[in-house]
Amino acid sequence: MRVAQVTRFGGPEVLVTTEVPDPMAAPGDVVIDVSVADTLFVETQIRKGWGREFFSFELPYVPGGAVGGQVLAVGEGVDRGWVGRSVVASTSGGGGYAEQAVVPVEALIPVPEGLGLAEAVALLSDGVTGLAVFDAAGVKPNEWVLITAAAGGMGVLLVQLAHAAGARVAAAARGKRKLDLAWELGADIAVDYTEPDWAERVRKATGGTNADSPTDHNAPDHTETGHTGRGREAVGHTGPNVVFDGAGGEVGRAAFEITAHGGRFSAHGAPSGGFSPIDPDEARRRRVTVRGIQHVQLAPAERKRLAERALAEAAAGRMKPVIGQTFPLDRASDAHAAIESRDVVGKTLLVI
Ligand SMILES: NC(=O)c1ccc[n+]([C@@H]2O[C@H](COP(=O)([O-])OP(=O)(O)OC[C@H]3O[C@@H](n4cnc5c(N)ncnc54)[C@H](OP(=O)(O)O)[C@@H]3O)[C@@H](O)[C@H]2O)c1
Repeated sequence: MRVAQVTRFGGPEVLVTTEVPDPMAAPGDVVIDVSVADTLFVETQIRKGWGREFFSFELPYVPGGAVGGQVLAVGEGVDRGWVGRSVVASTSGGGGYAEQAVVPVEALIPVPEGLGLAEAVALLSDGVTGLAVFDAAGVKPNEWVLITAAAGGMGVLLVQLAHAAGARVAAAARGKRKLDLAWELGADIAVDYTEPDWAERVRKATGGTNADSPTDHNAPDHTETGHTGRGREAVGHTGPNVVFDGAGGEVGRAAFEITAHGGRFSAHGAPSGGFSPIDPDEARRRRVTVRGIQHVQLAPAERKRLAERALAEAAAGRMKPVIGQTFPLDRASDAHAAIESRDVVGKTLLVI
């Protein structure tokens, strides 16, 4: 079978397609004939050699943490009734960028009626982490929620979840195409964080002042995309009550600065090169609850439970993954290059 393999740490070109022997299903395992494989931003960082303290990949390795396809073969002790079924599964430890993937039978999730295989794959990581960080933040109706990297695979889900919870959503991303997408998915305001004053504009729009004084409801009537607020009543605050920071770095730092007293801040993203730098003393002073990437390291059973929930939500039409672009397996390196160039919206998948 063909796999896209990382042979050394480096740029997208180190991800090359090669032939390896077909896998066998060990007892308790199944082999999936992969049709769709997920990609994640963090996989581009790991490929570059980043985060070796968190991730241990021995070279060469095949990236990819989630796949969808048909069960091709089952190992000893596995019900043969699985063969031919359309499933998605997490491939903990990689191995997803491949024509075939081996997973334990417990990892299999049948694709629910009404949901496409690609959509199901798109939700397996983003939906799980998205629901985990969203649940932990306890978003209440009329609170202001700021989402950075709002047009990414997980960002688009967080925009929808916050909107559905009755919150007011401030989406931050780069460029009109991404801001328009966030707006279409339910954002009340959409701000480009490559503009130097973006955080101050979010602070003002969410009713805050730069003196951290109590509520000032001078929300602007437009953003640079021309999108106006949707008119929900804001609760008292001095900036966003909840921040889901998928960008990290300088964007995350600015987002933390405008987080309301008593707010919740999820620092789960680091595509800008590092997680949001947060001074714990300052967080304590402002009573901001900070949760990091360590809080979304979930046990397999919990991941599966959240994945099934995400799939059920999507099948019922309550949450929609946005598949912005797909690449064939042979062009996995182009997929990585596109993700790194920020030239993608929503989810990027490999179609095999
Ligand atoms: N998906 C998951 O399961 C999961 C789990 C744990 C952590 N995370 C982290 O959460 C973050 C957001 O995830 P996601 O799935 O919504 O996003 P994504 O699809 O992985 O895309 C990354 C996003 O980061 C933004 N970005 C900001 N600065 C960037 C930079 N310097 N280079 C490249 N992109 C940059 C890009 O949008 P702009 O061009 O608009 O800035 C892009 O939308 C990522 O850091 C990811 O590693 C995700």
